[in-house]
Amino acid sequence: MPHFDGGEIAQFVTFRVADGLRREPLSDPRLAKLVEGALLHFDGERYRLHAWMIMPNHVHVLLTPRLGNHVSDIVHSWKSFTSKRANRILGKSGKFWQEDYFDRYIRNQPHFDTTLEYINQNPVKAGLCCTPQDWPFRGTATPEPPNNPGPSITPGGPRASRLQSDDVADLRKEYIRGGLKEDDAHPDPIEQFRKWFEEALAANLHEPNAMTLATVSSGGRPSARVVLLKGFDERGFVFYTNHEGRKGRELEENPYCALVFYWGELERQVRVEGRASRVSAEESDEYYRSRPRGSRLSAWASEQSRPVAGRNTLEERLRGLEDEYEGREVPRPPFWGGYRVEPEAIEFWQGRENRLHDRLLYRCSSGVGWSMERLQP
Ligand SMILES: Cc1cc2nc3c(=O)[nH]c(=O)nc-3n(C[C@H](O)[C@H](O)[C@H](O)COP(=O)(O)O)c2cc1C
Repeated sequence: MPHFDGGEIAQFVTFRVADGLRREPLSDPRLAKLVEGALLHFDGERYRLHAWMIMPNHVHVLLTPRLGNHVSDIVHSWKSFTSKRANRILGKSGKFWQEDYFDRYIRNQPHFDTTLEYINQNPVKAGLCCTPQDWPFRGTATPEPPNNPGPSITPGGPRASRLQSDDVADLRKEYIRGGLKEDDAHPDPIEQFRKWFEEALAANLHEPNAMTLATVSSGGRPSARVVLLKGFDERGFVFYTNHEGRKGRELEENPYCALVFYWGELERQVRVEGRASRVSAEESDEYYRSRPRGSRLSAWASEQSRPVAGRNTLEERLRGLEDEYEGREVPRPPFWGGYRVEPEAIEFWQGRENRLHDRLLYRCSSGVGWSMERLQP
């Protein structure tokens, strides 16, 4: 909810599709999702989104721009973010949006409430549905319960509190962000990864360096968990861990493993398959020294993957280590360090319309280098 006494003022914005377009283009779920994606894309960064309603020919948004961001620029970004893609979906060119837009400052809480009600009732008044909840292309900010840091924006309005099994089956999203063509892909998959990774960083994703690491025991049993990527180059992808934990032991027995990055907001996945080997002691030392002191001590305190009687035991161990190393450098434990996964195959996946996704697989053959081919989705 906005604070009406602060410097940032909530605003009600409406913008429309260009005249002369096919009737009601935004009732096409692909286009509505595209617009919704644009509204959510800049949320938190350039404004706080309170509510939105995507009507067949126009869009209503209630938002508070963050200081220094003007509504005119924000609307311009939404339009330029969507128009090319919308035209591509419609198979046309030319203007998608009307040039102008309408905006109004929200004076106080009652004005905010009536505007919210106006937005929500819009499809009902237009005879498109019986209740606002029936209209799929809308969203409202749910007031955050105290101490709940969870997400406050719920596309489609607040959900029922208990998730039914059908809800999971119904989770379905159209992928609309764009494609991955052979001609645009870098011939070197590490360079292609660098490009996508930089885009994931630029998109402000939550932990874009988080990746699922799958290992296989000597008995052929797979296991997977998330670790953080701490470096990559033409030699491979580096992460740090305890060599004596489950993944460490499995990698020592069987170095073949797989990594998966999932950057949902960008509708992208990258899969890496290869062999892991320990990085040099110097490289592990250098990274270990860069870690906060608490993390360095915890590396000593944890016998990773082994059972422990209670959290107290770990906290006591940590306190003991704090005393032991007071005023001294904390050395790297001999059982802790990095692995580098040297890739043999890297696949880039980009979500596309109608589940006809793009998949480009790079494979490395010795003496030949990398080759690339398209896989069926
Ligand atoms: C976002 C995230 C990042 C993590 N990063 C690491 C990491 O870099 N290294 C690590 O050993 N464990 C990391 N973990 C914990 C692992 O997922 C896992 O619980 C732990 O390494 C024990 O795995 P294991 O028993 O299979 O060896 C991370 C977990 C999450 C959710």
